[in-house]
Amino acid sequence: MASNTRLQIIIFTISLCNLSLMSSSSWRSLDTQTDYRKWVSWNVENYRKKTALQPQSINETPSGGGGKALDIKLSKAEMNKVTMTVSQDGTADYTTISDALHTIPLYNTRRVILVIKPGVYREKVTVPRALPFVTFLGDASDPPTITGNDTASVIGRNGVPLKTFQSATVGVDANYFVAINIKFENTAPHVIGSAGGQAVALRISGTKAAFYNCSFYGSQDTLYDHTGLHYFNNCFIQGSVDFIFGYGRSLYENCSLNSVAKKVASLTAQKRSTSSMASGFSFKDCVVTGSGTVYLGRAWGDYSRVVFSYTFMDKLVLPQGWSDWGKKKLDSRVYYGEYKCSGPGANLTARVPWAHMMTDEEAEPFLATHYVDGDTWLISP
Ligand SMILES: *[C@@H]1O[C@H](CO)[C@@H](O)[C@H](O)[C@H]1NC(C)=O
Ligand SMILES: *[C@@H]1O[C@H](CO)[C@@H](O)[C@H](O)[C@H]1NC(C)=O
Ligand SMILES: *[C@@H]1O[C@H](CO)[C@@H](O)[C@H](O)[C@H]1NC(C)=O
Ligand SMILES: *[C@@H]1O[C@H](CO)[C@@H](O)[C@H](O)[C@H]1NC(C)=O
Repeated sequence: MASNTRLQIIIFTISLCNLSLMSSSSWRSLDTQTDYRKWVSWNVENYRKKTALQPQSINETPSGGGGKALDIKLSKAEMNKVTMTVSQDGTADYTTISDALHTIPLYNTRRVILVIKPGVYREKVTVPRALPFVTFLGDASDPPTITGNDTASVIGRNGVPLKTFQSATVGVDANYFVAINIKFENTAPHVIGSAGGQAVALRISGTKAAFYNCSFYGSQDTLYDHTGLHYFNNCFIQGSVDFIFGYGRSLYENCSLNSVAKKVASLTAQKRSTSSMASGFSFKDCVVTGSGTVYLGRAWGDYSRVVFSYTFMDKLVLPQGWSDWGKKKLDSRVYYGEYKCSGPGANLTARVPWAHMMTDEEAEPFLATHYVDGDTWLISP
């Protein structure tokens, strides 16, 4: 990311989240390690309480007497599902995804499942905040592709550059979004050394969003895991630079991260910017492969937090593992952890000294859907 654009993103982010500025004088004085340990023990405690309350019953039914306290708005929406179909050959309700979305009433309260037939949809899709509970459902044997090639430097309708945020082929501002068997793509190439090349395939800014069996193809900044609670399962994510970035609180389970970098790059750029922000990426049972040489993460946010567990790392992962983006003072603030990973890239001998080789207890909060408060909103799709 070019510094100029980065600054713009930072300004944008601050205006979205001015809380982070307001507390800036107090967080500087915090002992982050103590703070982190407090957070871990709180999280572990919280997890124990929850599991003690519901020993074996993983009962998904919202109205069930025992089991999970599913978010009430969500359970109502799930009880009143509607389905629409999208197909380019004119045999379905709509021929474009955007047309289908435009027919959903604002402040929708029902789960709306868009069954998207195979095909390449060259559309810039936005799911606005006022359209919660939307599901994109593709065909497992032939997933539809939603594709675009906007970059941060492309001039938008109002005559100014789109910037990273608006470069997304698909931008989701709504809560409770689900995607299954969808290929999200941004085909703009990454030209090393040129500014404004950020080209997002998917931006997810709504909370309680889940992605199953999806793929994300791009180069620089493929997946903007912007903000909210997110769950990714069996997904494939490809990119060159910072290709999973943002300040979401997200669990990536059984996902494949494939680098197409041509030189040194970073897989993630997590943007947790204050010590009290409940944000961070957890990768569990994932696979890291591809070209170039990569850091697992670099500190876009001063308190950036990323954990890899049970993950196979191929030889492209740099021995030092993590980057503080040249700011030594961040070494004690960021939290970069590894737990039971394998493969040539997981050799810990030459890791930066400030990376964390996690204990069982430290790892526990990150290892399952409790990390994203899944009990209250993750339902089997
Ligand atoms: C995006 O693709 C279109 C063709 O679909 C092409 O005309 C345009 O030049 C491309 N834009 C960029 C920035 O590559
Ligand atoms: C995703 O794919 C796996 C294996 O291909 C399949 O078992 C699973 O049911 C799929 N998940 C969804 C939500 O369709
Ligand atoms: C993990 O993902 C792979 C490839 O996407 C899939 O074949 C496999 O079934 C998944 N495993 C589980 C446990 O879901
Ligand atoms: C890990 O890397 C060190 C050198 O940095 C090397 O000596 C050692 O053999 C490696 N361990 C494994 C298991 O490959």
